[in-house]
Formats: sequence, structure tokens, C-alpha cells
Amino acid sequence: MRLEKVTALVTGAGSGIGEAVSARFRREGAQLLLTSRRERLGTTRPGDVYIPGDLNDEAFVVELARRAAESAGTVNVVVLNHGLQVSGPLTEMAYDDAKDVLHSNLLSAFLVMKHFAPLMPPEGGSFVCVGSRLGIVGKPGEVLYSAAKGGLIMLAKGAAIEWAARNIRVNVVAPGLTATPVIEASFRRRPDPEAYRRLRESQIPLQRLAVPEEIADAVVFLASPESSYITGAVLPVDGGYTAF
Ligand SMILES: NC(=O)c1ccc[n+]([C@@H]2O[C@H](COP(=O)([O-])OP(=O)(O)OC[C@H]3O[C@@H](n4cnc5c(N)ncnc54)[C@H](OP(=O)(O)O)[C@@H]3O)[C@@H](O)[C@H]2O)c1
Repeated sequence: MRLEKVTALVTGAGSGIGEAVSARFRREGAQLLLTSRRERLGTTRPGDVYIPGDLNDEAFVVELARRAAESAGTVNVVVLNHGLQVSGPLTEMAYDDAKDVLHSNLLSAFLVMKHFAPLMPPEGGSFVCVGSRLGIVGKPGEVLYSAAKGGLIMLAKGAAIEWAARNIRVNVVAPGLTATPVIEASFRRRPDPEAYRRLRESQIPLQRLAVPEEIADAVVFLASPESSYITGAVLPVDGGYTAF
């Protein structure tokens, strides 16, 4: 699928799934606007525009939209991939951590949607949110993260209906456990990383983690004209985890 005429914003482009999504859009010929918090990215290419900042800060999101309008005019695709997972028992979760999780997964997504929908051209556009299997099912120790990703699903469904008349589609990809640097690092912190990996794999029907490129394939599909009649949908890419 070719996306030569597409300008795409990818958030959380700094690592893992965001990096894979950016690489895939680049390969399809899209013009890329990339953002995450780190000062610079390892993998920008000539033509990519990288604008670092915190999406929890509305002033930054307004500036990001202004610079997107300045450099590209319109934005056809927005991939809301940024996110933050803070785990722990509910009764031990600090209020500040809870606010961080809700801001970084949900309220920041609202801010980007609010300020980027007006940049979409008259023929429409596509938002693809990267949610989680934990936005669909609960898990001990992940209650706030689940609440935030579940909220993201409803944000996407509501916006899909609100913007349908403008042909702005809004969908969610819900990854399962994916072998990104942050996940690999969390495995390495376990006393027996290999045993822990086998345990986690055994909980997934397909018996393995996803690789970031498998999530990127689903994101690009929902961003592209191949999914032109799909809006308000949640696509699990989780090896069957939520099929139970
Ligand atoms: N990996 C998995 O197993 C898995 C499973 C289900 C869902 N997901 C979701 O998939 C997405 C990507 O996951 P990943 O594993 O690739 O995570 P990651 O490596 O931790 O990447 C997250 C990205 O989001 C950015 N980010 C976080 N908070 C931000 C904020 N307030 N403002 C701007 N940027 C912010 C980070 O920027 P900096 O690093 O520059 O600070 C980073 O680039 C997340 O939404 C995650 O919840 C992942």
C-alpha cells in the first residue's frame, strides 16, 4: 500500500512500537512528523520532522499543531502511540502516579485529537490510537493502566461518531505483550528472566510475544484507504489473549 500523499504524525516515536510504525510509514512513502519527549531520535531520516515535547502539556500540543501546519499544511493521519505503564497494587498506587498514567495515556490523546482534527483536510483523515489488551480486559496490578487504555477506547469510539460526517475515522489497535525495549528491560530485571519470559509466553494463545512490526502492520492498515469503511473499531493484535 502506498502512502506517498499522506502526512502522518506519530507520537511516542522514540522507541519500540512508535519506531516500528515510523519505519513502516516511511517505507510506504509518507511524510513524517514525529514526536516524543527525548531530545533527539536515533532513527530520523532526511525529510522527517522531529519535534520533542510533553503531550501532557496543552501549550506544547498547540505548538506541535502550529508547526505541523507550518511544515505540512494538512495532516492526514495521526498515530497516538505514546503511553506510560505504571504497575502496582491499587491500594499502593500513589495519586501522582495515577495522574501520570491517566494523563500520558488518555488526556494527552484527547489534547492531540482536539488540536489535530482541525488540521485534517476536507476529504477526511484517520486517527489510530495504540491502546492495549489491558484496555479490554483487567489484570491485577494494572488497574489504572487498564482504566486509562479503556478510556482511550471510548474516547476513540465517541470521536469516531462525532467526526464521521467529516470522514475522519478513529480506530484503536490493542496490542498484546510486545517485545519492545521497555518490555525486554522489565524481563531482564526479573531474578530468572528466561523462566519469566516462558511464563508470559505460556499465557498467550499463540505462545509468543508480538514483535513491534506486527503492531505497525495493523496501525498502517487502519491509517490507510484499505480500511476506509472502518471507524470506531478496536483491533486486538494480541496473539489471542482477549479471545478468552
Ligand atoms: N510493549 C507492549 O507490550 C505494549 C502492550 C500493549 C500496549 N502498548 C502500548 O503501545 C505504546 C508503545 O509502547 P512501547 O512498548 O513501544 O513503549 P515505550 O518504548 O515506552 O514508548 C513509549 C513512547 O511514548 C512516549 N511518551 C510517553 N509519555 C509521553 C508524554 N507524556 N508525552 C510525549 N511522549 C510520551 C515516550 O517518549 P520518551 O521515551 O521520549 O520519553 C516513548 O517514545 C504505548 O501506548 C503502550 O502503552 C505496549
